[in-house]
Amino acid sequence: ETVKELLENSDAGVSIGVCGGDLACGQCQVYVDSSWMDKLPAIADDEEETLGIAFKRKKQSRLSCALK
Ligand code: FES
Repeated sequence: ETVKELLENSDAGVSIGVCGGDLACGQCQVYVDSSWMDKLPAIADDEEETLGIAFKRKKQSRLSCALK
């Protein structure tokens, strides 16, 4: 099961946004706990570009659709 599938089926209140997981909308933004930041893949250019327009971006912001 991918992270995307887990998020779609989770009770965590996190969901995939209108772009369907294509790193384009920013609606799937999550704030990652600091203890997990170095365990995740690096932010690629397309994720960085969309995070640049994401609502209330923070230092620990990631797009959950990129974490699959
Ligand atoms: Fe649109 Fe992640 S679902 S950016």
